Amino acid sequence: MRKPLIAGNWKMNSPDESSKVLLVNVLVHAQLLEKRILEEKDASDIDIAIFPPSVYLKEAQEILTGSKIHWGTQNVSAYDEGPYTGEISASMIRGFGCDYVLIGHSERRCLYETLELDQYVLDQIVAKKYAKAINQGLTPIICIGETAEDYAAGKTEEIIARLLDVLIEHQGPQALAQTVLAYEPVWAIGTGQSATPEWAQKVHSFMRERVAKHDAATAESLRIIYGGSVKPENAREIFAQPDVDGGLIGGASLEVEEFSEICFSAAVSTH
Ligand code: PGA
Repeated sequence: MRKPLIAGNWKMNSPDESSKVLLVNVLVHAQLLEKRILEEKDASDIDIAIFPPSVYLKEAQEILTGSKIHWGTQNVSAYDEGPYTGEISASMIRGFGCDYVLIGHSERRCLYETLELDQYVLDQIVAKKYAKAINQGLTPIICIGETAEDYAAGKTEEIIARLLDVLIEHQGPQALAQTVLAYEPVWAIGTGQSATPEWAQKVHSFMRERVAKHDAATAESLRIIYGGSVKPENAREIFAQPDVDGGLIGGASLEVEEFSEICFSAAVSTH
């Protein structure tokens, strides 16, 4: 059985309250959630991670150390150190007590796309970042998903297969055992229009099968989470799908009560 993961991506949002207040709030709700999970006979334990803007990492470390909640960054450099203005290396991230890092989020891919880089080149950059993250003992959450245009053209599997093949080619299939994959259709992110549970299941199962061709045991233990307009109203149905192992939550992660409800949905949807 795979332990579900709920990851909260704050993106570049500064909370209405101070980041400190929000972090404390997240912590308090996580404690309440833990109690709720213990009391619910059909619930099982989950992992929770939050991804605040990097300037709040120190606060996250101060407030969340010793708690159940993990934290991480929304990006990592493909290099160890040097003249890479604005970048943060995997070892610096580790230095802030992070366990996780997001890699290849579509909002970052779009930045590179403005440079008109080919998708295959982008996948290579993602693979380099992936290598840096795992070398530092971070758990990468690697995001992939198709645009509305690609969805309409039926290219979803092609896009996903290309990235998975690049990751496997760079690090071998076993490295995926310490990795999380996030299927995030670009058309569902921040739009309020999530994928249907059936569609998410279809794509997740394709991803698992693709990895299984190389290593069946790794594929079986690999966590594949879904992201794109997950809310308390649709979380249970999505997480109930056999190949959906939790979610990457954007907007709703800033609303602590909603986030906590989504976490609870994952706890009662184990399969
Ligand atoms: P959303 O964002 O939940 O606001 O759609 C998801 C994400 O970008 O990770």
